[in-house]
Amino acid sequence: MIHLTSVDPANETCDTLVVPVCEDIDIHSNSILKELIQSAKKMPEFKGEPGDEIIFYAVPKIKATRVVLGGLGKSDALTAEKLRCFSGKVVKQCITKKMSGITIVVPDIDSESLMAEAIFKALMEGACLANHIYDKYKKEKKLKPIETIRFLIDTEKAKKYRLLPKQVQTLCGGTILAREWVSTPSNDKKPEQLIKSIAAEAKKYNVPITILNEKELKQKKFGAILAVAAGSESRPGLVMMEHSPQNAKKTVLLVGKGVTFDAGGINLKGAAGLETMKMDMAGAAAVAATVITAARLNLKQTRIVGVLPIVENMPSGRATRPGDVITSFGGKTIEVGNTDAEGRLILADAISYALKIYSPDTVIDIATLTGACIVALGEKIAGVFSTDNALATRIVSAGERTYERCWQMPLPEDYKELMKSDLADIKNLSSSKGGGAITAALFLADFIDKDIPWAHIDIAGPAYIGKATDYCGSGGTGFGVRLICDYLENI
Ligand code: BES
Ligand code: ZN
Ligand code: ZN
Repeated sequence: MIHLTSVDPANETCDTLVVPVCEDIDIHSNSILKELIQSAKKMPEFKGEPGDEIIFYAVPKIKATRVVLGGLGKSDALTAEKLRCFSGKVVKQCITKKMSGITIVVPDIDSESLMAEAIFKALMEGACLANHIYDKYKKEKKLKPIETIRFLIDTEKAKKYRLLPKQVQTLCGGTILAREWVSTPSNDKKPEQLIKSIAAEAKKYNVPITILNEKELKQKKFGAILAVAAGSESRPGLVMMEHSPQNAKKTVLLVGKGVTFDAGGINLKGAAGLETMKMDMAGAAAVAATVITAARLNLKQTRIVGVLPIVENMPSGRATRPGDVITSFGGKTIEVGNTDAEGRLILADAISYALKIYSPDTVIDIATLTGACIVALGEKIAGVFSTDNALATRIVSAGERTYERCWQMPLPEDYKELMKSDLADIKNLSSSKGGGAITAALFLADFIDKDIPWAHIDIAGPAYIGKATDYCGSGGTGFGVRLICDYLENI
């Protein structure tokens, strides 16, 4: 839990007082802290450079048991992300050292590039996101999250930003919810189980939810979703959830890929990295958590609809074969060139249906869609593909603010030819080896049959990490929740 407090830092009685320090300028106005920082900087091991740390115990005139000074580097190079990493790191340290409570002193600066609110928000985000431990599958729970994290801030700002801690906790709660869904092993999130879990979370926060089961999907002719699900013992579903503020004038449709395990189907994947394919529902996790978070934050302007096709992609005697032709929801026929290109199939059906039902003003889909996007942008940056440059720019800007980084990629019309089929209307596989992330996006574009802004976010890289970072453990990252919430807040 995050708390705001505005006592004199010297009078804060806690076990650990954390003081961020810049290399070049004073960022604290408290005279006792200033003195302490000055004397620390006289030591060879502490200059306030990034990563510098020095711990003082039993400091005269300071009530805290220990004071940790941490370096932030030069003030003009300070960014929100550096602050997230700073607070994330100290929170993780406190968890491993089993400290009970920590208080972080918020810097007293308000530069043009980084406003006081952004500084404070970033510090809280890093702390909140780092204070998450996914140990559901450990018999012995060795580490515990910190119970209270306090932020020391002057009286005026404490008043001004009094609502911020709860908002940040709600937002980070959304990221953590998505992280846990993604990290859950596939044997515990078969489509039926994942749908139940999403429905339970939605109910908790009064988010209306509708689920189409396999029978209804058959009746309504969701040929592509059913084709992907055919090889699995688990039944597919289509989840729809909604945050509808009273006076909303516009509808944003969010569609998330929900493949609870992607074995590749009959085009079975190789052994390398197969165990990470439990993360192939990260798009659906991000969308579900975003709709819930938007509802909890009570975002007012826009109606937000989340649509999640949830399936498992497995090989079996009942599985769809390469070369099969299927009929998608809208009636368009698809030649299945490769059963491992299943994400675009389920998204095509979900998008066609949602366009018809919800008449949205904007459509954004988010999916762990292609390995090719990882080749293009690496593991930390998502690809954004859009027919609408203004929409793409808004998403990229949200990525800069949240550090859920996005990069706009091209959508060249002529590449559509690569997915021509002699047999059907379109093929789910490109005839070229190159540009796989682009052709996947162009396949989706073919199902946006109305003239509305649409963007596709390929999160194959950043949805999952093998190694922990300053404020995220290994496993699901929850990428997309803070990104899309920021986009929605700044619409
Ligand atoms: N789920 C994968 C994409 C993926 C790969 C996500 C690595 C995360 C990490 C997707 O369904 C897939 O298998 N795509 C194929 C498409 C190909 C068969 C055209 C790919 O990227 O190789
Ligand atoms: Zn696949
Ligand atoms: Zn996949």
